[in-house]
Amino acid sequence: MSTEAKEYTLPPEVLEETVKASEELWKPIKKVKFRIYKYNPKKDYAPHWEEYELEVSKGMTILDALLEIKGEKDHTLGMRYSCRMGLCGSCAMMINGKQMLACQTRVIEAAGDGDVIELRPLENFPVTRDLATDFTSFFEKHKAVKPWIIRDEEELDNPTGPYKQTIEEYAKYYQFTDCIKCGACLSACPTAATDYEYLGPQALAQAYRYLVDSRDNGLDERIAVVDVAHGCWRCHFAGSCSDVCPRGVDPAQGIQLLKGLIIRRKFGFKPHKPTEALPAKIAKKKEQ
Ligand code: SF4
Ligand code: SF4
Ligand code: FES
Repeated sequence: MSTEAKEYTLPPEVLEETVKASEELWKPIKKVKFRIYKYNPKKDYAPHWEEYELEVSKGMTILDALLEIKGEKDHTLGMRYSCRMGLCGSCAMMINGKQMLACQTRVIEAAGDGDVIELRPLENFPVTRDLATDFTSFFEKHKAVKPWIIRDEEELDNPTGPYKQTIEEYAKYYQFTDCIKCGACLSACPTAATDYEYLGPQALAQAYRYLVDSRDNGLDERIAVVDVAHGCWRCHFAGSCSDVCPRGVDPAQGIQLLKGLIIRRKFGFKPHKPTEALPAKIAKKKEQ
């Protein structure tokens, strides 16, 4: 068998169309002014604004624009990004006053009919520098709700097969697995704005995600973390968190379901009997 790599070329008409579309996408169409918050807490007495003007194109995202500004106009600009495809959650910021991902927001959409875009760091987070914020407390809150399957069986340490889970059991928590920990929801939350210790929508929704996972056996342990003064009862269900989530997760709904679960538990209810600890293949052998 030949190991030579085959060269693949697009049919000429498809190639021509592709090149045309790409040229159209990256052709400069107007000038936009970026008004950017600048603040280095280690050096500056107070924050200030800087303005930078760029020629922008249809395909340009806010992150592309920031990288161009950083590369060509102001290399001191502080920002955070990684995947550039809406998956790592690093580039969330205030774009014209709303929590959004810079890599998923196109400049011409943010500018609309105008020609000025205002960029600020996420609200409710301490500023590290300019548009970059400190996520230490956010991740501590996430960790506090024990975002992992709690089981004490030997099987977890030395697994011999998978746990069985039905589609219906999976559907109970599926949407919450889409969370990319971007912090947009916590930033939009009015409770978090006044109570720095509030666990917040991201962590509380994740607590619910694990509590209703049929493999989990951490009901008491996890509820002890969320049924507290700065826990789920501080949520007023205004829904701003769900409104800004770039992944379509509904943390506000998760928190209300969590509250319901805690109340029903006081009357003896448990969300599920944790899945049989025996992995599928051993269980099957037993059945035979
Ligand atoms: S729930 Fe949505 S907004 Fe909140 S951290 Fe997760 S992905 Fe971001
Ligand atoms: S629904 Fe709850 S967690 Fe979400 S923004 Fe409102 S108060 Fe915050
Ligand atoms: S850079 Fe990863 S989500 Fe924007």
